[in-house]
Amino acid sequence: MRIIGTGSAYPKRTITNDDLSHMMETSDAWIRERTGICTRQVITDELLEDLAAEAAQKALDDAGIGARELDYIICSNVVSEYVTPSVASIVEGRIGADCPCVDLNAACTGFIYAIDFAEALLQTGRANHILVMAAEEPTRMVDWNDRSTCVLFGDGAGAMVVTRGEGLRAVKVSSKSNVDVLYYKRKLEPTPFVTKEEDHIPLSMAGQEVFRTAVTCAVSDLMDVLSEAGLDKDDITYYLLHQANFRILDYIRHRFGVEGSKLPMNVDKLGNTSSASIPMLLDELNREGKLKSGDLLAFSAFGAGFTSGACIIEWNK
Ligand code: ACO
Repeated sequence: MRIIGTGSAYPKRTITNDDLSHMMETSDAWIRERTGICTRQVITDELLEDLAAEAAQKALDDAGIGARELDYIICSNVVSEYVTPSVASIVEGRIGADCPCVDLNAACTGFIYAIDFAEALLQTGRANHILVMAAEEPTRMVDWNDRSTCVLFGDGAGAMVVTRGEGLRAVKVSSKSNVDVLYYKRKLEPTPFVTKEEDHIPLSMAGQEVFRTAVTCAVSDLMDVLSEAGLDKDDITYYLLHQANFRILDYIRHRFGVEGSKLPMNVDKLGNTSSASIPMLLDELNREGKLKSGDLLAFSAFGAGFTSGACIIEWNK
């Protein structure tokens, strides 16, 4: 795999911590201190698929290829207005592609899983150009009366175009079933036959357990991919970690022993955008001209499941 283009898009409405403090019992100081989040972009009248299509088109433009050259679209998504068809299929129509399309749901780890799938398709020769993307609206899963979850999230989409190449040095994905720690349950349509009790439960999270598991998984995943690639932690130019919150990222950084300049972050302005956070951050670095040929990037993410994953990829656009 070689990354040849990136793109991102986010909703226009900015919500500050002060805005939230007028809606619920919270404060800028509490949110900043516990999470590092100052603002987030939230969906209002936008459709998630519009953001996804915008990110996809920007990635195609950056790659300098047309949508018709895509052989596959893989989109990581947890919730969207459409349960079916997939976000990927909707994006296909918006950008004018004509190829197989699929969504995958591995929670906040979905983008790493999508990379793993894409690499397999490239290696078997089934595809030459793949749009690997993530589009997420976690603000639609939370209870906006629950201050312990709703302050954490923002919405957005990130995308990259990949082709065949030698860039992916190592990838690891895993899942250890632990549903109760982090889940969102929606109510399905009733039928004349269903007799069980069914609830709609907005995002439920055991915050401290998620924190501990996230740190442990990220540190061990990063060690594993470094070892598989035969690299030292200092060989990595940038660590792009799932932007869950500043304290988790800082803990991982300390446990891992890398300097702050190697860990770019945008969680302060975008909040936690679930699996879209890594491709959105990657696009930010690319647009700002911070990536050079030969840079080694480590991605690491963790989320409901409990899933986690990491990979190392050389930037050679
Ligand atoms: N404003 C003010 N007070 C709050 C807020 C808020 N927004 N939210 C919770 N509190 C209160 C609680 O009610 C509690 O009050 P009490 O002591 O009177 O009962 C107090 O603050 C402490 O609550 P805790 O939940 O113990 O706070 P904690 O220090 O654990 O911080 C946090 C909560 C920020 C969620 C932390 O546990 C955390 O970062 N967890 C990681 C979870 C995460 O980031 N998940 C991301 C989503 S999942 C993913 O992306 C993988």
